[in-house]
Amino acid sequence: MSERTLVLLKPDCIERRLVGRVIARLEDKGLNIIAMKMIRVTPELARRHYAEHLNKPFYPGLESFITRSPIVAMIVEGPEAVAVVRNLVGVTNGLEAAAGTIRGDFSSSQQMNLVHASDSPESALREMDIFFSQAELCPYAPAVKPWLGTHEERPAR
Ligand code: CMP
Repeated sequence: MSERTLVLLKPDCIERRLVGRVIARLEDKGLNIIAMKMIRVTPELARRHYAEHLNKPFYPGLESFITRSPIVAMIVEGPEAVAVVRNLVGVTNGLEAAAGTIRGDFSSSQQMNLVHASDSPESALREMDIFFSQAELCPYAPAVKPWLGTHEERPAR
């Protein structure tokens, strides 16, 4: 089923000039970027986005990290996009992430893991709403659609 998910390219991704390479991986997979902007995360925005981590011991460090340089926020669309993007990104700790994933190939850190991707369709809805208004979404028909799957696999919805 076609889904949308939130992807954030974190400050380390911008600082290390990896934005283009990470975006290329999403595009190569056949995903559609339907919204994108560079912003600076405020402490208030960080607390809203990472509400479930507010009481974790690592939260103060996470807030300093996510607010220290700009981020690139995106909404990515495609078949089963939430799970597909999570698989492309890899597990949280870059040291443990599988080779071939974004974190596995570019990160050696649990905190500075380059990318945030929503962990469920419910989180995706909540997080997309935090970073984007409906007016900022630019959906379009991807030229690669015939190569994303057959009609039997992906009935029109
Ligand atoms: P993300 O997928 O954005 O979700 C929460 C973020 O908190 C995570 O990526 C990391 O950047 C950070 N994080 C998670 N666990 C730890 C930890 N144990 N120590 C430091 N940062 C962490």
